[in-house]
Amino acid sequence: MPEPTPVSMSATLAADEALARRRRAGERVLSMASGEIGLPVLPALRDRLAAAAGENAYGAVAGSPALRSAVAGYWERRGLAVDPGLVVAGPGSKSLLFALLLAIGGDVIVPVPSWVSYAAQARLAGARSVPVPILPGQGGVPDPDRLREAVTDARTAGQHPRAVVVTVPDNPTGTIASATTVRRLAQAARELDLVIVSDEIYRDLVHDGSEPAVSPALHAPERTVVTTGLTKNLALGGWRTGVARLPDSELGRALHTRLTAVASQIWSSPPAPVQTAAAYAFGEPPEVTERVAASRRLHRAVVRAVAARFTAVGAELAPTAATCYLYPDFEPLREHLAEAHGVHGGDGLAALLSERYGVGVLAATAFGEPGRPLRIRAATSRFYGETAEQQTAALETAGSADPLSLPWIRESVDRVGEVLADLAGSPVPALAPHA
Ligand SMILES: Cc1ncc(COP(=O)(O)O)c(C=O)c1O
Repeated sequence: MPEPTPVSMSATLAADEALARRRRAGERVLSMASGEIGLPVLPALRDRLAAAAGENAYGAVAGSPALRSAVAGYWERRGLAVDPGLVVAGPGSKSLLFALLLAIGGDVIVPVPSWVSYAAQARLAGARSVPVPILPGQGGVPDPDRLREAVTDARTAGQHPRAVVVTVPDNPTGTIASATTVRRLAQAARELDLVIVSDEIYRDLVHDGSEPAVSPALHAPERTVVTTGLTKNLALGGWRTGVARLPDSELGRALHTRLTAVASQIWSSPPAPVQTAAAYAFGEPPEVTERVAASRRLHRAVVRAVAARFTAVGAELAPTAATCYLYPDFEPLREHLAEAHGVHGGDGLAALLSERYGVGVLAATAFGEPGRPLRIRAATSRFYGETAEQQTAALETAGSADPLSLPWIRESVDRVGEVLADLAGSPVPALAPHA
């Protein structure tokens, strides 16, 4: 009998669970390992979910008409108009991404670095993942020239790459691929006859509205599937809700048929009460857009303050343009880390941060980086407070003042500064709170 496909626990979720155990045991820990957004549910959404609790039928596999038409409106407002009949909702965009890989078939090109689950899902789907590096500062999108080479080589070797996954804006780097890179990627995908799966779950968390993320669906509409959800913009990860926008083309309609068939065999339909609340959220009434704007301001202020602590000790860092992620490179400190701490790579660095300082981060290897890069990914989305009251205060403060004026946020940011200074053997940086 064949052995089951090897699969490991998602690095982010595993790190989170380990830190939660240590916290329960009374240890002082600072969780920067996962992108869980530590903010409360918007009351209007909580009320709608509660009112929908009686909705107990499965409903349509692709999601309710109300949700699909609200989602179509959401995409239309972002220049990506779509027929609601080509929208598919599911229990989280992660499930949809996996179902898409099953529906598309073939091997999958993934950027390096990229989110922990793409390569793992490809393996689970019985496919190969073909890693293609990004261009510097162009996180989430494989270098289009290297993509051409990799696909040609893979096909020559008898492999069957059929899809390329991109993340705009990106996790883990917190950067946004430029319009030019996205256009070149779309052109290469068309020449190579690849489906583009564009994971845009961070789209609403771009810090500067004048530089929005560009979707490859604008350049290769016939072959781009876009996914998003409410996990990041509205902190609703535990509600498990995600959506996919399929291309309006023969390919898109065939994929829709296969995707809904896969969905029908795995999860049947998205959870009905959540769909009702999600339809309201995707309709974007003012209270929803205001909440998303406040959380964007909060992420921006805190991630920038933490970034300054990393660069102050000599780590290199592409400026975070979206999300709550930092992807610092400690290469300039390689000698010191080896001599002072016996650390030679990102895994050792992450282990040291966790064991000695109680700071949870992920090593770059979790994102598919080869070798022993001294890179880690740190998320700042848990700095907003332990209680709903503190988190609400953080959101409110971000509207008019510096959220670092709140003592619990300041304490976490200062702790990062102290830990990094100790690690680097340098004095604690005297930075302005918001620097
Ligand atoms: C790039 C990316 N895609 C998808 C997801 C998962 O989203 P969902 O909660 O919709 O399954 C995450 C969560 O961390 C993510 O970072």
